Amino acid sequence: MNSYQTLLPESKDHVLILHLNRPDALNALNATMFDELDSFFTGGYQDYNASCVIITGKGEKAFAAGADIKELHGLSSQQAESLSRKGQKIFQKIEEFHLPVIAAVNGFALGGGCELAMACHIRIASSKAKFGQPEVSLGIIPGYGGTQRLIQLIGKGKATELLLTGDMINAEEALQLGLVNYVTEPEQLMDRSIEIANKLHTRGPLALAGVIKSVNAHFIPGIDGYGFESRTFGALASTNDFEEGTSAFIEKRKPAFQGK
Ligand code: COA
Repeated sequence: MNSYQTLLPESKDHVLILHLNRPDALNALNATMFDELDSFFTGGYQDYNASCVIITGKGEKAFAAGADIKELHGLSSQQAESLSRKGQKIFQKIEEFHLPVIAAVNGFALGGGCELAMACHIRIASSKAKFGQPEVSLGIIPGYGGTQRLIQLIGKGKATELLLTGDMINAEEALQLGLVNYVTEPEQLMDRSIEIANKLHTRGPLALAGVIKSVNAHFIPGIDGYGFESRTFGALASTNDFEEGTSAFIEKRKPAFQGK
């Protein structure tokens, strides 16, 4: 039974497909969806035996068309700042999640929807997807990390233009800018995402978590990324997975990683 109101988890072997499930509102991120995403990435994922999470949007039209504008309307300064901090914290949880998270962007990824996709580790877009940070049209700015992650992914010049104009870009433009990793035909989006998830499933899970942490370390002020990488490299060297991975190579067989 699905215990979520706004999410629909679907297990496919070792992959957990997490559908954002408010199709009538183009999967706009409301307070319940934020709480449920928080709960899922805090512990809810343990109900599923997954090695990779794919986030996608329910319905044909949208991944997520942003924060729920009806809930934003009328917020006080204090409430808005606190919502921004909450959204940032939840998306950071996704960015720091120990399992790889793939965004399968099936349609509009606007505002908070684009910010959610940017918090994921890999982005695959349907050729019908559209990306943008249209918040300035509402008299506000992105509040869930969008001003920071867009710069990280596509550079300051183009990011500033997109943030200032609020313009939407299509999937091909997003690919050229490096905002997404791949573009597929809509009907191949899930197969392509699962194909990548299956590849990740064959890699050492502790090593995947180590990559995620080390990449994120680059963006944490005051952290020496090279030092962090060396410490992670050292810690992984004493795992069974490293022993298994290197033995399997020498013995010309596939490794059987156990995440230990
Ligand atoms: N928050 C709340 N509801 C939203 C929403 C959002 N961000 N985006 C879409 N919806 C709702 C619409 O209100 C509409 O609901 P209704 O049928 O009860 O009126 C439904 O989703 C369908 O949207 P609609 O605008 O009719 O679809 P469209 O195909 O004409 O346009 C968009 C699609 C994405 C261009 C348009 O919905 C849009 O601009 N959404 C807002 C995007 C945005 O500014 N996001 C940033 C928020 S900070």
